[in-house]
Amino acid sequence: MIQVNLSNIQRFLPLPYEAALAPRLRIAHRHLQQQNGMGGEFTGWVHLPQRYDREEFARIKAAARRIQRDSRALVVIGIGGSYLGARGVIECLCSANYNLKRKDTPNIYFVGNGLSSDQLSEVLELLEGVDFSVNVISKSGTTTEPAVAFRFFRRALEERYGAEGAARRIYATTDRARGALKSLADRAGYETFVVPDDVGGRYSVLTAVGLLPIAVAGVDIDALLAGAADMMAACAVEDIALNPAWQYAGARYELYRTGKKIEILASYEPNFRFMAEWWKQLYGESEGKENKGLFPASVEFTADLHSMGQYIQQGERHLLETVVRFGPSAHVNPVPYDDGDSDGLNFLAGKSMDFIRQQAMDGTLLAHVEGGVPNIILQAGTVSARTLGELIYFFEYACGLSGYLLDVNPFDQPGVEAYKKNMFALLGKPGYEELRAQMEEKLGR
Ligand code: PA5
Repeated sequence: MIQVNLSNIQRFLPLPYEAALAPRLRIAHRHLQQQNGMGGEFTGWVHLPQRYDREEFARIKAAARRIQRDSRALVVIGIGGSYLGARGVIECLCSANYNLKRKDTPNIYFVGNGLSSDQLSEVLELLEGVDFSVNVISKSGTTTEPAVAFRFFRRALEERYGAEGAARRIYATTDRARGALKSLADRAGYETFVVPDDVGGRYSVLTAVGLLPIAVAGVDIDALLAGAADMMAACAVEDIALNPAWQYAGARYELYRTGKKIEILASYEPNFRFMAEWWKQLYGESEGKENKGLFPASVEFTADLHSMGQYIQQGERHLLETVVRFGPSAHVNPVPYDDGDSDGLNFLAGKSMDFIRQQAMDGTLLAHVEGGVPNIILQAGTVSARTLGELIYFFEYACGLSGYLLDVNPFDQPGVEAYKKNMFALLGKPGYEELRAQMEEKLGR
């Protein structure tokens, strides 16, 4: 189970805060548990690891097996909360190099998460001569980026397999009843999976949104949900001494109040990179409103110690650092002995890579804390589906608490609409004519 180590924030928060904060954490906690706080209609994820739809879960597994049988590639179309969680879990558990590995599961390409024409062409090219399926994921069913990408990949499937054959290879994950994607899926006869009404995009990785692509990559989704269920039980306890999410949410809130406005999530596993991207969306979109919220950033150590290390050590002191540490690696890799010791590294001969990394972690920790950066350590188990299930639920729960501590609604994202409105206007979407005229003038067109 994840342990939250707060010993390296103590010098920054010398006065005890836990007793004073506990009543506010308790109120936030009860709002989450009883689903009656701000945005309570989007807290279906709180009990999800226990109350998920078993029938749909079985269909997800069956669909994953079918895709594994009939496809050498799966194209996953989605953006934001309909994308980052699946990519985070797959890269963390199966490697960022997953597509390059020898394996008996399909390659997975993530598209529709931007508007790069070259990236689109590249994936279409990579699919030439390769049997593939598509999982298009959009809760609203109307998001521009994935909807545009889907046109291209649907056409590619139809050209390859005909309309009926294509329909058998398209899996749509969307709203139960509403939206353009749902209507299209029903008309065309695609198999559909549901983004539950009460689960927002960035909290949806443990629904079909994340589970189908994750299962196609061969990850044990039962273990993922079992880890989340364990953490759900740990997070249900009303005691700051025992509840890891209370500890993390409380500590980062208190540090924020002392002027630590940026939280850097660090990990020493390069494969964690997209989990950090998922975390950034989760916290950025949940907290960043009403001129409040920690800015979530991420670094990958030790690589970024050689690029961002200088700033972290000596730049403006508005940072706090949260480090996700995993248990022992699967591979030991002792450093080879070299007869001539030509590089002077024989003092490390026989030492494992994990041992060397441990010293780097501890050395960095002391340096950063001495340099004025409070450090929270999240000690997780070995990298596994169960550990990631724990971590996902832990971050989600702490995020819900954090939003309530800040007195914002952690489950809406009103700011995301601003760019969409402008883009629709400039693209000439019907209904946006007036805004378009105003914008053209501002842009001097
Ligand atoms: O968290 C969110 O709500 C957003 O990031 C959405 O997931 C993202 O905008 C994609 O939306 P949709 O799934 O409706 O296409």
